[in-house]
Amino acid sequence: GKDKYTIAIDGYSACGKSTLARALARRLGYSYIDTGAMYRAVTLYFQRHGIDPGDDEAIRTAVPHIHIDFRPEDNHVLLNGEDVEHQIRGLAVSQMVSPVATRSEVRRAMVQQQRKMGENGGVILDGRDIGTVVFPDADLKLFVTADQETRTDRRLSELLSAGREVSREEVAENLRERDYIDSHRADSPLRQADDAILLDNTHLGLEELIEHGVELVNRIKKS
Ligand code: CDP
Ligand code: CDP
Repeated sequence: GKDKYTIAIDGYSACGKSTLARALARRLGYSYIDTGAMYRAVTLYFQRHGIDPGDDEAIRTAVPHIHIDFRPEDNHVLLNGEDVEHQIRGLAVSQMVSPVATRSEVRRAMVQQQRKMGENGGVILDGRDIGTVVFPDADLKLFVTADQETRTDRRLSELLSAGREVSREEVAENLRERDYIDSHRADSPLRQADDAILLDNTHLGLEELIEHGVELVNRIKKS
């Protein structure tokens, strides 16, 4: 069979998607596309330019001026050429990204770029709508979940060890709010694709999660 698969990983916030995607990409020699980082970079652009996520006219004008790339060496996200990897992970962006990601003008532009980035296969994308909208014909679709409490603890310790000042309650509230908005929006809501494999990693460590992912990839390689 072919050897350059397209792998889609979707799920709720802070459930382990990017950790899994990155590890699988490294093992397979695939490229990794962090689509959440793209919506976060758009949000940072809106914040810098004072664009309200409800302002249709401002969004239509802004979107053609937003170019997003990934630096090949380390996968840092580039907003119009500037490395914004650090800025996009803070609470300010996290609190505005889901409203921005409801906007169809924004989604259309991002989905178009994601399809182009992944057009030759050999790629792993993670996000909310990869298996349902971006690559509905992906060779392997995973839908990752973990308990809300577990996800909050994991994201909190990630932020604290990056030196961010944030409380557990702020993180919990942000995850709840984003999960609600992401799964209730009209355009491309977060949902498990019918043919996606559910992967609950509440009780799995990182190594076990990755091993499980590798097994699932090996299964499609044989079929
Ligand atoms: O890392 P975390 O799970 O917290 O979030 P992320 O993957 O960086 O995504 C940030 C936000 O971008 C999500 O909460 C969604 O609002 C939006 N997003 C989206 O709408 N569609 C995608 N394919 C990826 C992210
Ligand atoms: O990409 P997403 O927002 O879904 O999650 P992530 O950034 O991959 O994972 C959030 C945090 O949980 C990271 O610091 C991971 O290292 C950690 N994690 C973990 O400790 N154990 C797991 N089984 C999965 C993730």
